[in-house]
Amino acid sequence: MKDQLIDQYGRQIKYLRFSVTDRCDLRCKYCLPKGFRDFSESAETLTTGEIEHIVSLFAQLGVRHVRITGGEPLVRKNIDHLVSRLARVPGVSDLSLSTNGVRLSRFAGKLKRAGLHRLNVSLDTLDDKRYQDLTGGKLSKVLQGLEEARNENLSPIKINCVFMRGVNEYDVEKLLDYCALRNFTLRLIETMPVGNTGRSMQARYLSLDSIKRKLREKYELIPDVMPGAGPARYYRLQGSSTKIGFITPISQHFCETCNRLRISCNGDIYTCLGDENCYPLGDYLRQGCSDEELIEHIGMAVDLKPKKHEFLNENKQIVRFMAMTGG
Ligand code: 5AD
Ligand code: SF4
Repeated sequence: MKDQLIDQYGRQIKYLRFSVTDRCDLRCKYCLPKGFRDFSESAETLTTGEIEHIVSLFAQLGVRHVRITGGEPLVRKNIDHLVSRLARVPGVSDLSLSTNGVRLSRFAGKLKRAGLHRLNVSLDTLDDKRYQDLTGGKLSKVLQGLEEARNENLSPIKINCVFMRGVNEYDVEKLLDYCALRNFTLRLIETMPVGNTGRSMQARYLSLDSIKRKLREKYELIPDVMPGAGPARYYRLQGSSTKIGFITPISQHFCETCNRLRISCNGDIYTCLGDENCYPLGDYLRQGCSDEELIEHIGMAVDLKPKKHEFLNENKQIVRFMAMTGG
């Protein structure tokens, strides 16, 4: 039987991003439209046991890194219990979670005790008003959550910042100082045209080259590495232990080394953020397929993974919202 997942282009899949809910308590302008409520039915959402089952099949197939995403994973009931179950799946050596941080102060300790290894928190600005405008939420809650995560020694903590022209392009240095003081790693991400909301932000797209050049006037950036399975390119600021990561899906795509699959909360496999097709693994699970059959299906899904994303191809617009698959 298969014990590895290798796609048509020779890429081995080692990284699974599992969206455990498509619900979210924020409405970031680049992700969900204001007032959006059209979430999937809760009966369709996979149970803890079903998610654990799927993750263990992927682990048998060589997946080592699992990231819990959403929507906002901390709005899912008993998320700490789910984390503790996934942390114990044989073969999973790295379990991480991406959150908007709004509920983090309540959950940091529980997540740590459940066995979570690493945490990513979205934070695009340290300006209260801009944060409120951009996300609809309260910055102070996120900052409290981050302090709590630090007290719980959840480390490393990465801060994800979607970089937008005329929105937060002048906030980066402040974020960098904030991160440096707390031993967090700042990661800048280019805005992607996913969903109507993401596309509506296309005018805000700015290549990360511009900010890299600006930072280089002030700091020497020395290439470095960080734990994690993603495509960020890291640098250390000379003379300090502070690191910064750049994620450039648009200006410099990294498709040839892509090692990941995404699963939505109802068990659909998405093989690429820039591709609308999905493979309904959750349906096969609920129809009672055996593990052997499910592994066959996973293999078929992997065969559908495209060579590269086509975000910029007008005929291949992505209509689903980012909250369905996580970033
Ligand atoms: N472009 C880039 N990243 C996005 N995210 C959501 N929507 C977009 C988009 N249009 C990512 C961000 C955010 C995470 C939850 O999802 O990284 O921090
Ligand atoms: Fe929620 Fe994340 Fe989308 Fe913001 S980017 S609306 S926090 S899922």
